[in-house]
Amino acid sequence: MSYSASWRSPSNIALVKYWGKRDIQLPENPSLSFTLSECVSVTTLEVNPDDASGSLAVFFDGALQPAFEPKIRAFFSRIADRFTWLNTSSIVVRSHNTFPHSAGIASSASAMSALALCIKDVDDQMAGEALTHNVDWWQEVSEISRLGSGSACRSVFSHAALWGQATGIKESSDHYAIPWADKLAPVYKDFRDTILIISAGEKSVSSTAGHALMNDLPYATARYRTARQNVERLSAVMQSDDSLDEFITICESEALQLHALMMSGEKPFMLMEPGTISVIKSLWHFRAETKIPVCFTLDAGPNVHLLYPASHADKVMNWIRTELVQYCDGGRFIEDRVGEGPEKI
Ligand code: DP6
Repeated sequence: MSYSASWRSPSNIALVKYWGKRDIQLPENPSLSFTLSECVSVTTLEVNPDDASGSLAVFFDGALQPAFEPKIRAFFSRIADRFTWLNTSSIVVRSHNTFPHSAGIASSASAMSALALCIKDVDDQMAGEALTHNVDWWQEVSEISRLGSGSACRSVFSHAALWGQATGIKESSDHYAIPWADKLAPVYKDFRDTILIISAGEKSVSSTAGHALMNDLPYATARYRTARQNVERLSAVMQSDDSLDEFITICESEALQLHALMMSGEKPFMLMEPGTISVIKSLWHFRAETKIPVCFTLDAGPNVHLLYPASHADKVMNWIRTELVQYCDGGRFIEDRVGEGPEKI
């Protein structure tokens, strides 16, 4: 008998960044993210336990991709004690993303969370269990996702997630993310994230190399302390509709700190492009003139995420179309928003 499961899982954008890890994706500081809606991975897992060859085939966008196998095998080996069938079945993974691979849009977050969901789903089918997706189920999926890619553990919850032990939040854990939607004021549940594709090419540093840079950085301890404080501040700030100024301050400071850390290593990374800086300067000017509460954040790449309340969407989109498309690779941007989390298909 063979089994299969398909899930759609979104990317997420960190507001307070996870940058620095120990062991297998245990974070050095807590992070807080918005779950996205449009940037998703759609993954199908086919498992044949009767074929004990342990073969693995990974298809991406319909084409066989042997280059993706080592990362998926490494993931399987980390969770094989829980899902022993991973080592003794033939497995096919089929996946596609709705956004450019490795463009600094956290593709590992959506891909690994979608795969974790499929693995858990197939495991439930094998156990003959009714699929009750209760709190514990989602917590386990978040933990499995983390073992694939740290930020993936935050993708499994709607609207927002908090990952990592955070001061004063006793249910928080380094091992999995916790849902954060209930802690958000309405304005934050309806936030837009327009992602300006400054460069759609492969990013020049893997996040593993980026995290490793933190190990030798003299500023690391101060960074982890600041991130902890920023999670504490931001989680309080986002409970109120009337807090956009402080939200903006924390988000932008986090984004630039991430890149400042990358630039301050002995072997530094410079992931911003000239277009990234032009957009940021244009944004600061636009905000000062219009008083529209739009701000930016960055991932480990050159693309700019513009975050703003849905009520300002018309004016912001108009500004993007007239002023900012000139900085976008091929004029491309992705109109995303805070979303509902994964979906079984
Ligand atoms: C800059 O989750 O991609 O996007 O755990 O090594 O897979 P691994 O790293 P990854 O790191 C993401 C870093 C970041 C910030 C964030 O998403 O918090």
